Amino acid sequence: MEELLRVENLSASFAADYGEVTAVDGVSFSISRGATLGLVGESGCGKSVTALSIMGLLAKTAIIESGKIMFRGENLLEKSVDEMCDIRGNRISMIFQEPMTSLNPVLTIGNQLMEAITTHQDVSSE
Ligand SMILES: Nc1ncnc2c1ncn2[C@@H]1O[C@H](COP(=O)(O)OP(=O)(O)OP(=O)(O)O)[C@@H](O)[C@H]1O
Ligand SMILES: [Mg+2]
Repeated sequence: MEELLRVENLSASFAADYGEVTAVDGVSFSISRGATLGLVGESGCGKSVTALSIMGLLAKTAIIESGKIMFRGENLLEKSVDEMCDIRGNRISMIFQEPMTSLNPVLTIGNQLMEAITTHQDVSSE
């Protein structure tokens, strides 16, 4: 099967008052087109940080120490902000953990679903 996404030796850490905390330490996996991959592990083991690294949505205090995130032959870690805006929510999407904090309570769900579509496609809200 055609390989769609390949994460190679990804390591990410956070700068903390007491030093650097390694959140993801040398993770590698690949996902083929049409396949489903489950990433399982105890709370705090780095699943979300791995996903946020792929999306280019890590906190500003995060440092990608090493690795490549190859999507269709291109390293997402080398993409510009504009290029990632084009990919995010379009070619690669994420359903965030904890809807109470990841969704905006003053906007309808419909509006928040529509935003992802109207940002990337030339369609009316209707
Ligand atoms: N913004 C941040 N600043 C500092 N440390 C962080 C930050 N985000 C995550 N971490 C730390 O990185 C590590 C990995 O966290 P992550 O959220 O990826 O865990 P997880 O596997 O998704 O856990 P859960 O199953 O609870 O969702 C944890 O030790 C966490 O405290
Ligand atoms: Mg998580």
